Amino acid sequence: MDGLKDKVVLVAGAATGLGADSARRLAQEGAAVVVGDIDGDGAERTAASIVELGGQAVGAQFDIADDRSVAELISTTVRTYGGLDAVHINAGDMGSVSRDTDIVDIDLAVWDRMIAVNLRGHMLVTRHSIPELLRRGGGALVYTSSIAAFTGDPQRPTYAATKAGINALARHVASRWGSQGLRANAIAPGLILTDEIREGASPEVLKTLIGRSRSTRPGRPRDVSAMVAYLMSDDGEWINGQVLNVDGGTVLR
Ligand SMILES: NC(=O)c1ccc[n+]([C@@H]2O[C@H](COP(=O)([O-])OP(=O)(O)OC[C@H]3O[C@@H](n4cnc5c(N)ncnc54)[C@H](O)[C@@H]3O)[C@@H](O)[C@H]2O)c1
Repeated sequence: MDGLKDKVVLVAGAATGLGADSARRLAQEGAAVVVGDIDGDGAERTAASIVELGGQAVGAQFDIADDRSVAELISTTVRTYGGLDAVHINAGDMGSVSRDTDIVDIDLAVWDRMIAVNLRGHMLVTRHSIPELLRRGGGALVYTSSIAAFTGDPQRPTYAATKAGINALARHVASRWGSQGLRANAIAPGLILTDEIREGASPEVLKTLIGRSRSTRPGRPRDVSAMVAYLMSDDGEWINGQVLNVDGGTVLR
């Protein structure tokens, strides 16, 4: 894809899963990548796997729920590579999803933590990134949303609310700063078989989930990272304020 060579990209939430794959794909496209995660060792591992293949990357520990930590991550990025051109905001508190029961039963601490990481944290990375992106003439923000923002579910109300909030955040940023060259889009993945999901899900559950799509297979991390790279590249230059489903046709809208 055009336009990613030597761009400075931050992937926020990239120790494992979709974020790690996105960091690797962006590095393959020639970007210099800062791999941020609350799991500092995991961030270092992702960065090392990039460097091993000849790419440019550094790992950085940070907590997306902590304003000061997010500000430091952006400063580290600018100090390390001289600026910021694009950000994939991907972190999600997946450990809390099983306790995201229903709105009567849910422990308020679970609601608060998921909002703090999945939504407020995405807002914090956005607000600390924008001045740096504008300094380089604009750039791209890509958020990881989910089809949960559209589907409705008797469980996981917090998760769905945070993802709907991310979609609104992307539309706001595009509307406010699009005329200054800043693009903000969200990707809404369906079921993506990360290593963790592959290990945790039974064949029956997987079959049911694939049956809800219009595809022969579950999603792969590279289905999402290809879209991240496209949205950040020059090829995606005229796409702004959108929520793009990468879900094998699960949600048609
Ligand atoms: N895998 C799927 O099927 C799927 C589908 C739709 C959306 N998503 C979304 O994709 C994103 C990544 O999910 P995944 O499946 O790769 O899971 P994952 O657990 O592998 O990735 C989440 C990453 O976020 C990091 N993180 C968690 N809390 C953090 C914090 N406070 N500060 C910084 N980093 C933090 C984790 O350490 C981890 O590296 C999430 O936003 C998730 O909601 C995943």
